Amino acid sequence: MFLPLLIAIHVIAVVLWIGGVAFVTMVVFPMIMRMENSLEKVLFFQGVEHTFAKIAKTSVAVVGVTGVLLLYITGEWNVMFKTSGIGPTLMAIVWLFYVLVLMFEGRLFKAIFKGEAQQDTAKVFYRLSVFHWIILGLSLLAVGVGVWAGHGGRF
Ligand code: HEM
Repeated sequence: MFLPLLIAIHVIAVVLWIGGVAFVTMVVFPMIMRMENSLEKVLFFQGVEHTFAKIAKTSVAVVGVTGVLLLYITGEWNVMFKTSGIGPTLMAIVWLFYVLVLMFEGRLFKAIFKGEAQQDTAKVFYRLSVFHWIILGLSLLAVGVGVWAGHGGRF
């Protein structure tokens, strides 16, 4: 009973986190890009990201802890970085990438909004939007491959 419960908690945290990333990418960015005023764009974006960062950090922590427990219980440690362990391997890579982004978020924002933003906010938000589409794609790939490999799918 413990294993399915753990997978359920793991997936609920994944839904909250990746669902939030999908919302920001598909709803918030198009809204921002329609705004006229540069300052309004930056303030709105920072407000959304700041609030979402708390949800993302909590979800990432829950996903990480439950993911490692799952690896331990299922014995999938042994297949990490092998073709048969493609699901959890991809999940761990995506997870690590988000941890790095969340850890250096403050510095990233400063770097992004300092120089170029004052001259061309439209260009900065376009690049941020493309970046979000890439990480959303990778995350959905991890979900897809994880479910596929976890239910008997083989390469
Ligand atoms: C440190 C990070 C992570 C580790 C170690 C990890 C590990 C695991 C393991 C061992 C399982 C269950 C075993 C299986 O059914 O094959 C699992 C299930 C799952 N994980 Fe992760 N995971 C991590 C992060 C993630 C991330 C970032 C996502 C999504 C982007 C994700 C999505 C899923 C999904 C959807 C399942 C359910 C698969 C199913 O049984 O249908 N995981 N994870």
